[in-house]
Amino acid sequence: MTILGWEPRLTTLVTALTGEGHLRSKEWIDAFAATPRHLFTPDVFVTSANGYRRLSGDDPADRDEWLSLVYSDESLVTQDKPHAAGHILPTGEPLRVPTSSSTMPSLMARMLEALDVRDGMKILEIGTGTGYNAALLSHRVGDRNVISADIDPALVHHATKRLTDLGYTPTLIIGDGAAGAPEHGPYDRIITTAAIPEVPSAWIQQLKPGGKILGNLRGDLAGGTLCLLTHDNDGEVIGPILPIGGHFMWLRPDPADPHHPHEHTPTQRRWPSSRTTTPLSPADLPVDDEAFRFLLQLQLHGAQSLYRGRAFDPSTRRERDAVIATAHDGSRAEAFTEPEPEGAYQIVQSGPRRIFDTIEITRHLFNDLGRPGPDKFGVVANDSTQFVWFANDDGWYRWPLPLI
Ligand SMILES: C[S@@+](CC[C@H](N)C(=O)[O-])C[C@H]1O[C@@H](n2cnc3c(N)ncnc32)[C@H](O)[C@@H]1O
Repeated sequence: MTILGWEPRLTTLVTALTGEGHLRSKEWIDAFAATPRHLFTPDVFVTSANGYRRLSGDDPADRDEWLSLVYSDESLVTQDKPHAAGHILPTGEPLRVPTSSSTMPSLMARMLEALDVRDGMKILEIGTGTGYNAALLSHRVGDRNVISADIDPALVHHATKRLTDLGYTPTLIIGDGAAGAPEHGPYDRIITTAAIPEVPSAWIQQLKPGGKILGNLRGDLAGGTLCLLTHDNDGEVIGPILPIGGHFMWLRPDPADPHHPHEHTPTQRRWPSSRTTTPLSPADLPVDDEAFRFLLQLQLHGAQSLYRGRAFDPSTRRERDAVIATAHDGSRAEAFTEPEPEGAYQIVQSGPRRIFDTIEITRHLFNDLGRPGPDKFGVVANDSTQFVWFANDDGWYRWPLPLI
């Protein structure tokens, strides 16, 4: 089927990405201008009241909306699967979760610019998805220098066909990208468009000296952290977290399972709770501040959620406003935001750890360090140790990886 009217839309998108400073180099501007995104995203899923709605380029009724979306600076969900817990929506449909997407073009542009690619470099991409980024990479360094892996056979199958139609035959691999692709390495660059809680050691081993890894280090509290790690010749990769926000879906080990293993809810166990008080108002906690959430993610291993909500207060036997925090080991804290009659604030905690104590310490540390954003931190990783550092890699502050 022929799609009409995409060329001016592609030109407009590339002009906008350039004008806004996401695309900076001629090589990447040319790659974006030569790659029709709609060929890689024939069907997309848009959120609707009932979960996701499919928009298809094949359907004349959808076509205009689909084409506008494809050439907008939006991330596009291109595959979804039923939630493993079997949740059912009020409509009776199963809840579905996104399992593949075409990354927002401005984010892809910023990542590719940051990757510092030169002619002839060999590049491993983890997360082939639609094949769109593999096409951009193939344009930039030549398809024989591009290796791309995805856990999902169907995605690799479709991406192969789309890339071939455009005249590219990079090496596409079906498998867990955490293992890299040793048979085609070593690599000058490894780029991942799926999130990792730590750096897979296979990637470090498959990188050339001086080579770089660009990936999204993620926990459940804070995920938008892209780090650029350089191989320092000592079998170690080291580098900063970039001032680029980018959230990706998890690198998951099982193609049939849409979740990362840690997302499967552990057996719910009832823990006795304890009550303490704090003089500091929980309402003042910077719950929505990405920088605070990032530091808390480092401080509180396995942190799962931090939000404002309603919690049952055992002392008054009614629901009240609270800041609620949970961790994957079952630890939970509820900090009530209205003061008690004596002026302090009540905290109810349960589970193996007193996680609100860590939250309080982190609140002080966050202020002491000058409320730093993630780009004030960096990562170092070798075969045996990985950690996040603050300010510099031999300073006082270090937190071990993985984040979950
Ligand atoms: C954001 S999408 C990738 C977008 C892609 N680069 C593009 O241009 O369309 C993330 C992809 O990571 C893949 N993925 C998840 N876990 C993986 C794993 N363990 N190994 C390789 N790919 C994985 C998903 O199947 C999904 O296609």
